[in-house]
Order: sequence, then C-alpha cells, then structure tokens
Amino acid sequence: MAPPQLLLLFLATATAIVLRVTGQGTLDSTGFISIDCGLPENSSYVDVATNLLYVSDAGFTETGINRNISAEYIQPNFAKRYLNVRSFPDAARSCYTLGSLSPGSKYLLRATFMYGNYDGLNKPPSFDLYLGVNFWTTVSIIIPDLSVLVEVIAVVPDDFVQICLVNTGSGTPFISGLDLRPLRSTLYEQVNATQGLVLLHRNNLGPTDNSGLVRYPDDPYDRAWNPWLNMEVWSEISTDKEVQGIPNVHLEVPSKVMQTAITPRDGSMSIDLPWDAEPNHVYPMPGYICIMYVAELQNLVGSSSVRQFYVTINGKSSLPYTPKYLVSDALQNLQPHHGFMEYNASINATANSTLPPIINAIEVFSVISTANVGTDAQDVSAITAIKAKYQVKKNWMGDPCIPKTLVWDGLNCSYAIPDPSRITAINLSASGLSGDISLYFSKLATIEYLDLSHNKLTGTIPDVLSQLSSLKVLYSANPNLCSNGNICQSTKKTRDSMLAVYIAVPIVVFLVAGTVVLFLFVVRRKKVKSNVKRQNGVGHNQMQLENRQFTYRELEVITNSFQRVLGRGGFGYVYDGILEDGTQVAVKLQSTSSSQGVREFLTEVKTLTKIHHKNLVSLIGYCKDGNHLALVYEHMSQGSLEQKLRGKDQNAGSLTWRQRLNIALESAQGLEYLHKACSPPFVHRDIKTANILLTANLEAKIADFGLLKAFKRDDDTHVSTARLVGTHGYVAPEYATALHLTEKSDVYSFGVVLLELITGQPPILHDPQPINVIQWTEQCLAQGEIKDVVDKRMRGDYNANVAWKVMDVALKCTAHEPTRRPTMTDVVARLQECLRIEEEQD
Ligand SMILES: *[C@@H]1O[C@H](CO)[C@@H](O)[C@H](O)[C@H]1NC(C)=O
Ligand SMILES: *[C@@H]1O[C@H](CO)[C@@H](O)[C@H](O)[C@H]1NC(C)=O
Ligand SMILES: *[C@@H]1O[C@H](CO)[C@@H](O)[C@H](O)[C@H]1NC(C)=O
Ligand SMILES: *[C@@H]1O[C@H](CO)[C@@H](O)[C@H](O)[C@H]1NC(C)=O
Ligand SMILES: *[C@@H]1O[C@H](CO)[C@@H](O)[C@H](O)[C@H]1NC(C)=O
Ligand SMILES: *[C@@H]1O[C@H](CO)[C@@H](O)[C@H](O)[C@H]1NC(C)=O
Ligand SMILES: *[C@@H]1O[C@H](CO)[C@@H](O)[C@H](O)[C@H]1NC(C)=O
Ligand SMILES: *[C@@H]1O[C@H](CO)[C@@H](O)[C@H](O)[C@H]1NC(C)=O
Repeated sequence: MAPPQLLLLFLATATAIVLRVTGQGTLDSTGFISIDCGLPENSSYVDVATNLLYVSDAGFTETGINRNISAEYIQPNFAKRYLNVRSFPDAARSCYTLGSLSPGSKYLLRATFMYGNYDGLNKPPSFDLYLGVNFWTTVSIIIPDLSVLVEVIAVVPDDFVQICLVNTGSGTPFISGLDLRPLRSTLYEQVNATQGLVLLHRNNLGPTDNSGLVRYPDDPYDRAWNPWLNMEVWSEISTDKEVQGIPNVHLEVPSKVMQTAITPRDGSMSIDLPWDAEPNHVYPMPGYICIMYVAELQNLVGSSSVRQFYVTINGKSSLPYTPKYLVSDALQNLQPHHGFMEYNASINATANSTLPPIINAIEVFSVISTANVGTDAQDVSAITAIKAKYQVKKNWMGDPCIPKTLVWDGLNCSYAIPDPSRITAINLSASGLSGDISLYFSKLATIEYLDLSHNKLTGTIPDVLSQLSSLKVLYSANPNLCSNGNICQSTKKTRDSMLAVYIAVPIVVFLVAGTVVLFLFVVRRKKVKSNVKRQNGVGHNQMQLENRQFTYRELEVITNSFQRVLGRGGFGYVYDGILEDGTQVAVKLQSTSSSQGVREFLTEVKTLTKIHHKNLVSLIGYCKDGNHLALVYEHMSQGSLEQKLRGKDQNAGSLTWRQRLNIALESAQGLEYLHKACSPPFVHRDIKTANILLTANLEAKIADFGLLKAFKRDDDTHVSTARLVGTHGYVAPEYATALHLTEKSDVYSFGVVLLELITGQPPILHDPQPINVIQWTEQCLAQGEIKDVVDKRMRGDYNANVAWKVMDVALKCTAHEPTRRPTMTDVVARLQECLRIEEEQD
C-alpha cells in the first residue's frame, strides 16, 4: 500500500525526521542560539554544515551530565553535536533556559537526539518535551543511531523560554542539540499566542542531484528542508532562475527549495502525499496544518498549455489553482484538519488543465496548544533570585508551579484559572540556607506561609516582609537570626544564651481585622508600626504591633477598677477592660499569692511578645509596676470552649458539628505552631477546653501560656519539670507519673479536648464512679456505635464517617505510650482532611 517513495517518511518516527548533514553554508547570524548539548563547558566550534557557531550547553542548564555516545555508533558523516549528549538521570524535569528573546515574538525551536547507546544500556528511552509550561511532544527513540529531530514554532511570551525534558518512567531523558531561531512574525500565520506548530515533516520536493539538506544560509531561518523524490512515480521539473516570493506575502521559502518541483510521471495521475497522524498521550487525535509551496517553473507564456489543479485532503478540495511563473505561493489550511488517523493529500489536474500538477515543497505540522501560562512573572523572578542566592537545588527547574505534578519542592501555589498561578507558601526548612534573608521574599505578594526554620541564616529579618499583606505565618527559627540587632547572639549552650535564642525566635503573624491579614514584626518597631499604619490605619479591634507597657494606674482605668471578672487562671484573676481606642481586652492580674517570680514573669512576657499566630491569643501588653504584674490580652468575646460546651449559659452545647470541627482544627494549628515554629519548641502544658477561647466568629485561639515551657530538643528529648502542672483529666500519664514532659504531653491533652468536642462530656465523668472521658468513650464504642458517644445535642446532624475519623485522631492522641501519639502536624493534616470531606459533601 505504501509507495516506496514514502520510505523516508516512515523511517522518521513520530515528530522526527532524518537529518542528513552535509557541508554547506557560510555566515553566522544574529539572534540564533545553537547549542551542542554535552559539549564541555566553555567550548564551542563552527558547524561545518552551516558555518554557525555551536556552543556548550553549560550556561543554559544547571543539571545533567555530559556523556559521549558509544564508539560503535560513531559514523564519519555525523554532525559533531551527535557525538556527545547531556543526560538527566536525577530529576523528574530538567530544563534549558534560553534568554534575551523578545516577548511575544515567534521562534523556531529545534531539538535533536542521537542516543548512540551513550549509557551502555542499549535501551533507547522515551520522554516528554515541554516548551515552557506547554507540552510539546513525546520523544521516542527507537533506533540507537538514528537522529531524531523535533521542532516547534511558537510565540514566546517572555524574554526567555525554557525547554524541559520530563522523565515519564521510560528511560533517562537526554539531548544532543538545541537550536533557537527567531522568525518574522508574518510567517506561519497559524501560530499565535495560544497555538503552536510541531513539525511532522518539511520536504524539498524534486532535487535529483542529491544536493542534500537545504539549511542556513539558503534558508535565512535555518529551517531544514529535506530532499524527497521518488523517481518511479515522480519526475523532476527544475529551473536555474530565481524564484521570488509574492510581494508583501512573506513565505520566505528559499529559492533553492522552490527551484525544484515534482510532477507525476504518468500525466494523468495525481500526486499523492499521505501522512499518518502521530498521536501521543496529550494529543490522541492531533489536528494538522499542511502547507504546500508551489511555483510554476516552466514558462508557459505564449503557449496554449494550462496547468491547473485541485488539492484534496481527505475529501476536502480546494478551488482550482494555477501556479505563477517563478513566484512562490502557498496552499495551506488556516484551521487544522481534524479527526483522522490517516491523511491523504492529493493533487490532481482539473479537466481544463493540459499539464499535470506540480508541487515544489511541503510542510506538515500538528497543532499544539500554548495556552497554558506560567506562574506570575513577578513571582518567578523573585523565586529565581531566591534560588540563585541560596543555591537551592532540590527540583527547582522549569516553572515553579506548573504543571501541578512538577511543582517545586517546598512550594505551594494557587491555581485560580484564568489568572496565572501564584506562589502561596514556601517551605525552605532545613535546606542548608545561609547568609541573610533575601529581600526577594518580600516580592512574593501572595505568600501566606514562609518556613525558613532550621537553617543557618544570619542577620535580621527585613522590615519589608511586613509589607506582605497575606503573610500569615513565618517560621524562622535559626540559631543566629535576630529579631532585633541588639539581641543577636551566637548559640552558646548555656542556659542564658538559650533564652536569648528563643527570644530571638521571631515569628509572625497576622491579624484578623475583618479581612485584613496583617503581620507583625519586631525589627525596628517604630518603623514597622508605621508601615502597618500606612496600610491599614489604626482601628478598633486591631492588634497592637508593639507590646505596650502599662502602669498599674492605667490598668485601673482600663478595667474600671477591676470591676468585672472574666475568669480565673493559674496566674490570677482575669478582668474585662477597654483601651482608650475602644479595643476590648482581657487583663490578667497576677495574684500576690502566685509563686511566679518577677524574673520568670518578664521572661514569659518577652517570650510571649515573640509568639504570634492567628490561633494563639495575642498579648497586647503587660504591666510591671512595683509589685504589680499583669498581662493584657486580646479579648475573646465568646469566652472559652469549655463554657460553650458545658457552661451554665442556655446556649451551651449548641455548637454544630462543623463549628466543632473548625474549632478543633484551629486550636490544633495554634498548638502545632507552638511545637513547630519555635526553636527550642514550646510545650503548653495546660491544653484544655477552658484554655481554648473563641472570637465573635467562633474562631478558636489557645490561651494561657503561663505554664509554657521551652526546652531544647537537641540535648533532651524531654524536660523533667520540678513540679506537676496542668489540669486533672488532661495530664498525660507519663507526665503525671514521671514528670516526663514532651510535646506529646500536649498532644494527649489535645486528644482529650477532641473527645470533649465529639462527645460533649467533661474530661472526668461521674458515671456514677469517676471515669475519664477516654475510658468512657472506649467502653461505649466497645459495646455500641459512634452515635452512642456523639454529643446528642447535635441531634444527629453530623457525618458519621467524619466523626469516626475525628474519633480515631482523638484516640490516637490519647494513646498511653507517647511515641504512639501523632505529632500536631499529623493531627492538623488529619483534621484538614476531615473538614475537606465535610465541605465536599455540602
Ligand atoms: C569557563 O569560563 C568561566 C569564565 O571565564 C570560568 O569561570 C570557568 O571556570 C570556566 N569553566 C571551565 C570548566 O573551564
Ligand atoms: C568525550 O570524548 C572527548 C573526545 O573524544 C573527550 O575529550 C571527553 O573527555 C569525553 N567526555 C566524556 C564525558 O567521556
Ligand atoms: C490562535 O489561533 C486559533 C486558531 O485559529 C484561535 O482559535 C485562537 O483564538 C487564536 N488565539 C489568539 C490568542 O489569537
Ligand atoms: C487514503 O488513501 C488510502 C489509499 O491510498 C486509502 O486506503 C484510505 O482509505 C484513504 N484515507 C482517507 C481518509 O481517505
Ligand atoms: C480530482 O479530484 C477531485 C476531488 O477529489 C475530483 O472531483 C476530480 O474528479 C478529480 N479530477 C480528475 C481529472 O481526476
Ligand atoms: C474550464 O474551461 C471552461 C471553458 O473555457 C470554463 O468555462 C470553465 O470555468 C473552466 N473550468 C475551470 C475549473 O477553470
Ligand atoms: C502545601 O500543601 C501541602 C498539600 O496540600 C500541605 O500538606 C502543606 O502543608 C502545604 N505547605 C505549606 C507550607 O503550606
Ligand atoms: C516544612 O518542611 C518541614 C520538613 O519537611 C516540615 O517539618 C515542616 O512542618 C514544614 N513546614 C510547614 C509550615 O509546613
């Protein structure tokens, strides 16, 4: 069926054609990038075929290794760039970045691959190629010493373009050569910002003289025109005369290509130029563009001869066409042909024609979408600068966020189509960063989480981070990082310097004033304060940025002489208060009988001023005035979770399942922050429903850090504390019996809180004998179902499946053995999952 002249076409796999390079050409040209991949760094040479300068790829990629092809595959006529390759055994995606382009212009990009058993495995690989964030093609090497060439014509949106090789599990990606050629924008009108053309084949029809490939400089764009003539069915027509372009129509096909044409030997036959669709996993049924270049090469002026023909592609015919003498024209489709796996292009003479049809050259392309846009350009340039500054390796190649499957490690992104993706979180924890904190972090305008903990960062935290309106949490525990120039110290392992270290643990913040998420920092406070003012104005309900020092007299005014008691903590009474600007606060006054010393109190204050998280009650200020010690906190209008669950209020117990789940998650996040954000970590020691406070919107915050304990994880896995603190019913067994304290003690207490949220029961029930809620729950579950333990006051309005999941978390948290309890990070993840399931069901 396949005529023999098509052999060449069939040999060419997928989007590949066979390149036979022979010597020709002269000059170099501006705007071309010609890369010999795998050539040693700083080497270059002039290519004998084109006289173009080929350079090493070392400056264009940061990854991969240079390899030589196997000696057995080297052939004397090989272009030099086929002798070596760069292979990418380590990364899922490896990219080349070509720069200095003009954004919005058309470029031709060409990559070549000669396997040549460079790895000695004798297993030619297959992998994907991306043009920036858009799939280009799948490269399938089948024959070890056949060079595969792929080419795309596309509009490049930025002043650079990345070509990425993606490992698809079928062998290690490698590459031999990479070329970029700028194209005039009038060429290939099918190509626009959202559509590119991938070459299937490009042929110079008709040369009988074996003149070989036409390339640069005959083709000013260095397109490679592959000769194609089947002498059995076609004969050549040629001319020595120059073939012109049609004025103002810029086809710019080289005259040398147009000077030869084919015509059927049997004048009554048509010229058939079939091709097979080349589907891949992204384009199972590709669309095709076919461009036929025609020019009359016989002077018919004054003769009665007529050459007129139709072009028919899978049943669709063109109008009758008569080629012009020595003038190039193109017959092409602007909308792709679709829906076939085989295409038949047939050129036959019309009834009026006295001469058989001719054709001089043909190009066939499949169309690809280039509609995917990369991550926001400002984010890309910032993260690229950060990557360069800290020499981040990881998999930081290609676009940071796209495709989703290849997001850079440690980054989270938003995908709000049609907007470009944005970076929303960066986790560079324990990534060996050193030096100061890059100012480029402040250019990431939508970042919410920044984790720089456990690095060797030094210097101060830049003020400009305060301008990041969406930054909610910054973890920056680093031994030598200061929140304030004057407490910068190195880490001596003495008790005092430890103190300095955790005071210097700067964190972050946010602020919930309506929708404004604000952030609080500690460096050069006045300045920060003014920044924040500028952004938000100072208003009611706004967290103070500076921990204010109150006099006792001021506290009397604020609390109207300690009139209204809100509650009582281990530290003393808590009073209701109102600041001058109307902000409602809670004032915790240390009772004179409290054993806490002044020094300890101040340490506490200093620590607390550095701990900020949206799920921790924030400290507004403190008072140390004579013997009077007090802490001023933000006021939590809905009181404690304990009151909400079991208070005397008639609304007690009215929390819905969803509210309970939210409260669980938020308090878990607050606690996780205490455990994770700071170095050394903090253990709260008194997690209980009475210490989880609720805002007007029922947002949960952990309160009462009076018992907070910091310990250094490196030296100790736990702290033996002098005395047991905490609340009966919540204290973990190992702490109660051995005063052995770790974060897992808090996890246990949190498990009890979760059980209270699910069951509505107190930590110790009288049933009729005292029994803790853990045993009570386990006993009920052993005999019955989840509905027997779930708080009846929810009237069955909950998802039993999710309730089981939360119950499971609670029971794991309350495991007797601390090591069997999850970390708060695990707990947060599990609760997020539960909430997600709930939301999906709505
Ligand atoms: C390549 O050239 C650069 C700049 O001259 C030089 O710093 C680098 O060491 C060179 N690399 C090699 C492998 O010679
Ligand atoms: C590749 O071959 C060249 C020349 O034959 C040699 O100089 C070079 O060291 C080889 N490179 C590798 C990676 O083996
Ligand atoms: C690009 O061309 C395609 C096909 O003609 C068309 O559907 C698309 O809207 C064009 N895109 C732009 C950005 O002009
Ligand atoms: C194309 O031509 C071949 C033979 O020349 C024929 O078998 C096939 O059906 C044709 N396909 C279409 C889509 O016309
Ligand atoms: C040429 O092809 C067209 C379209 O397939 C057909 O209608 C016409 O009859 C053919 N002409 C000749 C002379 O074969
Ligand atoms: C063929 O020639 C006749 C007579 O000159 C003309 O009427 C007709 O339009 C021509 N057909 C085509 C397809 O040009
Ligand atoms: C990023 O997203 C993953 C998966 O959703 C999540 O587990 C992780 O905590 C997020 N990281 C940050 C720093 O927000
Ligand atoms: C950052 O990554 C580290 C290590 O992978 C992890 O322990 C930590 O929880 C992550 N931070 C955030 C904010 O997700």
